[in-house]
Amino acid sequence: MPKSKIVRPPGPKTLVPGGHLLAFQLRPINFLMKVARNYGDISYFRLGPQPAYLLNHPDFIKDVLVTRHENFMKGRALQRSKRLLGEGLLTSEGAAHRRQRRLAQPAFHRQRISTYARVMVDYAERFSERWQVGTSLDIAHEMSKLTLAIVGKTLFDTDVESDAEGVGQALTKIMKQFRLLLLPYTELLEFVPLLPPVRRFREAKDELDRVIYRIIEERRRSKRDHGDLLSMLLMAQDDEEGSGGMTDEQLRDEALTIFLAGHETTANWLTWTWYLLSAHPEAEIKLHEELDRVLGGKPPSDEDIPQLRYTEMILSEAMRLYPPAWTVGRLAISDTEVGGYMVPAGSLVLLSQYVMHHDERYYPDPFRFDPERWTPEAKGERPQFAYFPFGGGPRRCIGEGFALMEGALLLATLAQKWRMRLVPGHPVDIHPLITLRPKHGMLMKLEKVGSRQ
Ligand code: HEM
Repeated sequence: MPKSKIVRPPGPKTLVPGGHLLAFQLRPINFLMKVARNYGDISYFRLGPQPAYLLNHPDFIKDVLVTRHENFMKGRALQRSKRLLGEGLLTSEGAAHRRQRRLAQPAFHRQRISTYARVMVDYAERFSERWQVGTSLDIAHEMSKLTLAIVGKTLFDTDVESDAEGVGQALTKIMKQFRLLLLPYTELLEFVPLLPPVRRFREAKDELDRVIYRIIEERRRSKRDHGDLLSMLLMAQDDEEGSGGMTDEQLRDEALTIFLAGHETTANWLTWTWYLLSAHPEAEIKLHEELDRVLGGKPPSDEDIPQLRYTEMILSEAMRLYPPAWTVGRLAISDTEVGGYMVPAGSLVLLSQYVMHHDERYYPDPFRFDPERWTPEAKGERPQFAYFPFGGGPRRCIGEGFALMEGALLLATLAQKWRMRLVPGHPVDIHPLITLRPKHGMLMKLEKVGSRQ
């Protein structure tokens, strides 16, 4: 398409070369919120040399993720993350992605996932038994260890808990390095392997690889069906294309993908939920009433979840306010009409859960915590893609059912025993890395339910 014919939607201008890129990298959420507020449903700007569009209307989000998904691929940041995740589900494209998705899908079926409920509750109880009344803990760290242990047990039938500190530290290290390595042109840094960030990334990656290849090797040797995701992936054969099973490398890529995608997101979600409950005791009281009524002091099971309506409303509202996946990016691979504008091939398209979930049109007084937004009637009044914490279309989160069950069971198990109170003076700020973390962790004091400390 000749340049002169391209009509761009409105958007911010900068006189400083790379000005928007810097603003985006320093405070991405502020930048995107401001752009959406000032320029509306579709806006255009440049991130360095990269032409970029921010779409902030549920219909346009649906267009990109569902209706015209074939015109888009994952953005370059995700392509860069191949350095860590290889060709796993998150990063692969086209036929390779379709094949991996086919092979992995059965492992995430409702029935199989329900067999993981017991493990989730057991691990939550195990953690809860270690906690002591009156102590202050970084709940972000605790939730991270808990969800890591659960993903290790349910998907790989391994007790990574004994290994959790090592893996946890390697993951945190990798997340920090990873952000830097996702920036444009950082591929070039890899030619300087002794550069400290590159070296630290390599070391953390090697450490994680060692854990994962060890697990795969044990499985191939024992040939035992553990009934978990890894067994499913090891056994999966591609009937549709007759291309057999996965290589060790493919298994490693999927395992690492699920390890990363399956723990950090849920941990952040729960951390923000504890924070919101601490700030809103009236919602916490209603939560406890529901837990007492439905569970009567018993540990929750998979069958209890449909009755835990208010628990679910709290969790949905927490995920609206603090969506763990705060933005998804796509690269247009052919010219595509969206919102009355032609988005040319090569453009980056940004869809931000954070921005959409704080849109006044769908969520009046959008920064206010209000679980009542999630009654069936209120939900029914909003368009589908006004809320898209798990994405949409063929790349929609494969772990959604797993995550929803885990969130409900962990909150129900722990909230029956504990109330968390933010330690006065502890700063709370969002930190949009790959997922939306609390910048300073979440230091909270533990109170036992039933007795005020
Ligand atoms: C609250 C928890 C979670 C949230 C908010 C979340 C969010 C997302 C989102 C938004 C995507 C789509 C990204 C895109 O379109 O670019 C995604 C993809 C994915 N998620 Fe999740 N996720 C969560 C939990 C999980 C869990 C528990 C697992 C695994 C056990 C998981 C595994 C994956 C995988 C493998 C993909 C890639 C799917 C594909 O492209 O085919 N996620 N997730």
